[in-house]
Amino acid sequence: MSARTTRRLTGFTPSGSLHLGNYVGAIRPIVERQHTADTVVFVSDLHALTLDHDPAEVRRRTTEFATLLLAAGADPDACLFLVQSHVPQHTELHYLLECATGFGEAQRMIQFKEKAGQQQHVRMSLLTYPILMAADILIYDTDEVPVGADQRQHVELARDIAARFNSRYGETFTLPTAVNPPVAARIMDLATPTAKMSKSTASAAGSLRLLDEPAVLRRKVMRAVTDDSGEVVFDPERRPGVSNLLAVLGACTGADPHGLARSFDRYGELKAAVADAVVDVVEPVRQRCLELAEKPDLVRDVLRAGAQRARELAGAKVALAREAIGLLPA
Ligand code: ADP
Ligand code: TRP
Repeated sequence: MSARTTRRLTGFTPSGSLHLGNYVGAIRPIVERQHTADTVVFVSDLHALTLDHDPAEVRRRTTEFATLLLAAGADPDACLFLVQSHVPQHTELHYLLECATGFGEAQRMIQFKEKAGQQQHVRMSLLTYPILMAADILIYDTDEVPVGADQRQHVELARDIAARFNSRYGETFTLPTAVNPPVAARIMDLATPTAKMSKSTASAAGSLRLLDEPAVLRRKVMRAVTDDSGEVVFDPERRPGVSNLLAVLGACTGADPHGLARSFDRYGELKAAVADAVVDVVEPVRQRCLELAEKPDLVRDVLRAGAQRARELAGAKVALAREAIGLLPA
């Protein structure tokens, strides 16, 4: 009997703007492997509702993210491509999994504690969203979830919930594992190089957004924070600014940042090379995104077809979970 192919799944929450870090750390690795691995890519719009949000903005970003992912090479013929809320089985499974999750277990999530600490009005969904994330993962029998460090704990929770559900109610779910995104350079904010480049950073100056025009990208790179030493070396601990520029150049060109450091004498030269490399990577994606944005029907059809396929897969899994947990078939 041949073994089932490993299935990988990645979600993107449509809040803020997708940036170069997301591209090299998450989007490019999925796109590169979608023809050889069984891949699920989705826009996790329901997760954008866990914090204060503007409804029109979430809707707009959902389309923007889907369009950008397609522009960046996600191929709906090669991977399962969908918007989370188009597959209501995710929320149905969420409830069943809540019934197999401890309140204390959810409360212990570090991201919950951090985000809840920053808010006056904490939504119930902020507490339960890792369980929805577990549903996203378990509903497709996912084996591997490439995630950054901050999401690892959530994948481990999904694994714990799956193991508990299986042992109490019978084998139902595949146990997922968090995996490091392959070779992803961790791209730091250009204005604050000690912080990760992030979708949710309020200031745009440090973030190289995939929809930034070339002149904007260049300006951001040229204004990137460095230091006074003037010496080009790769030492992220002690020289975060210049090291980040080398990491960006490495991520865009495939070269090793240590080796690159030896090729430049001055920050100005390095910045010019980084600006060119970033524009070479980002501009084709932005152009394809603009072309796709001219064809909203095409994107809508892709999402409709993806949702339909996903509903079939997800529906079968939810039916198993419903039966296992004790619900009477309708
Ligand atoms: P953000 O922090 O920008 O909101 P997410 O936490 O939603 O990003 O991350 C989505 C994916 O993008 C993660 O799986 C992670 O691998 C990748 N990613 C995010 N930021 C970076 C970064 N600065 N450098 C490299 N990869 C990143
Ligand atoms: N919560 C993830 C984030 O904010 C996105 C996400 C939702 C996800 N569901 C997922 C990632 C399932 C991996 C697996 O970045």
